[in-house]
Amino acid sequence: MKTLLSFVAITSSVVLMSFGISSNFTTPDQGKWVAPASAKELKNPHSGAESVANGKSIYTTRCVVCHGATGMGDGPAGKSLNPPAADHGSAAVQSQTDGELFWKISEGRGAMVGWKLILSENDRWDLVNYIRTLKR
Ligand code: HEC
Repeated sequence: MKTLLSFVAITSSVVLMSFGISSNFTTPDQGKWVAPASAKELKNPHSGAESVANGKSIYTTRCVVCHGATGMGDGPAGKSLNPPAADHGSAAVQSQTDGELFWKISEGRGAMVGWKLILSENDRWDLVNYIRTLKR
């Protein structure tokens, strides 16, 4: 009896543990990704052609693989993701503030890596400026 009880106890804690772990993974039903209100007001300290050019060069090496050459979310590694890599030319993306895009690039979600440990703050603002040029 005692063995049976501990078997049940162990089994259920394993089940609970895996449930806890799996709930951290990205699932298709995570819903719309919304940046926090504090991000909205962040001021973009960069502007101009030099910033856009730097953004473009980073975008080409780091983002095109998923977001595609024109940012439509159709890169070889991006189109089959769930959710798919975002379309940067779309109204849904372009209607967000610079601060919201900066925050999302920095923090990431699921397959979209958070870039804050990889790219400098300056580079992340330059990416925002480049993404503005992809508007359709
Ligand atoms: C491994 C594939 C991958 C790479 C590489 C990648 N992204 Fe993404 N990105 C995604 C996915 C997938 C989403 C959608 C995430 C979600 O909605 O949960 C996304 C979403 C975004 C969004 C949010 C768009 C929205 O809908 O609000 C921005 C901004 C963004 N990416 C910028 C970038 C930039 C800039 C880079 C390069 C520095 C980059 N991404 C690299 C996969 C990628």
